[in-house]
Amino acid sequence: MHWSESFYTRQAEIPGTYTTAIHPFTHALAARVTAHLGGPRRLLELGSGGGQFAVAAALQGHDVTALERVPSLVEHSHSLARAHGVRPAVQQADFYTVQLLEAHYDAVCYWDGFGVGTDDDQRRLLRRVAGWLAPAGQMYLDVMTPWYWAKAAGNAPQISGFTRDYGFDADGCRMLDTYTPDDRGEPFTQSLRCYSPADLRLLLQGTGLTLTELWPGGSYDVQAGVWTPEMPLERAMTYTAVLHLE
Ligand SMILES: C[S@@+](CC[C@H](N)C(=O)[O-])C[C@H]1O[C@@H](n2cnc3c(N)ncnc32)[C@H](O)[C@@H]1O
Repeated sequence: MHWSESFYTRQAEIPGTYTTAIHPFTHALAARVTAHLGGPRRLLELGSGGGQFAVAAALQGHDVTALERVPSLVEHSHSLARAHGVRPAVQQADFYTVQLLEAHYDAVCYWDGFGVGTDDDQRRLLRRVAGWLAPAGQMYLDVMTPWYWAKAAGNAPQISGFTRDYGFDADGCRMLDTYTPDDRGEPFTQSLRCYSPADLRLLLQGTGLTLTELWPGGSYDVQAGVWTPEMPLERAMTYTAVLHLE
């Protein structure tokens, strides 16, 4: 089993991690995507977690398909959708292998999660996305920045029941996020490849996608416990890369 499957399964068991209400930031993100697309469209979300964005997008009128591998998160997405009276099609599926019968999406979104694999894995996924997009479609891709995560190493927000540690693999340019259970259970770690926009442009070569726009993201000050939703790119934790077909 790939580490990402066991990590997200275990992380999903931590109360409140993925089972929150829809945060106003998520509604704002859905509104931003809607405005950028010029209205509601056919939208595919990858790695949709607890379904908060899928539901927020469905509330904006999008025809949403969402792919999530962890069954309990798919179930949570269905109950969240029911509670809001919308019906996004949330499927339990692996985005590396799923066969989508009617591709041609106007938008493919992947929030907070890109970089689980090797560079080759990421390219494989991006080539799949190019095949799922309608000719004028676009991808909205959250990418971790190397500078934020290199600096964050050693300072992780704490979670009840665990010691959490951020680290940084400087050679592989990957953020590391380790949970060690207080009951001395086995630690579990996520490791996400970080890309500057220059690195992302190199990664995109041969995938059929090209970077056309970039939205700097926010930054979390772990020591102060303060989240700032918009930062200059050189201080941001992530950015959203807007990708089009070449
Ligand atoms: C960090 S979480 C982010 C969840 C959600 N996008 C959000 O912003 O709250 C990454 C999600 O991607 C899912 N995921 C990772 N690899 C996947 C794969 N190969 N196929 C489908 N889902 C995957 C994980 O199960 C997890 O729910």
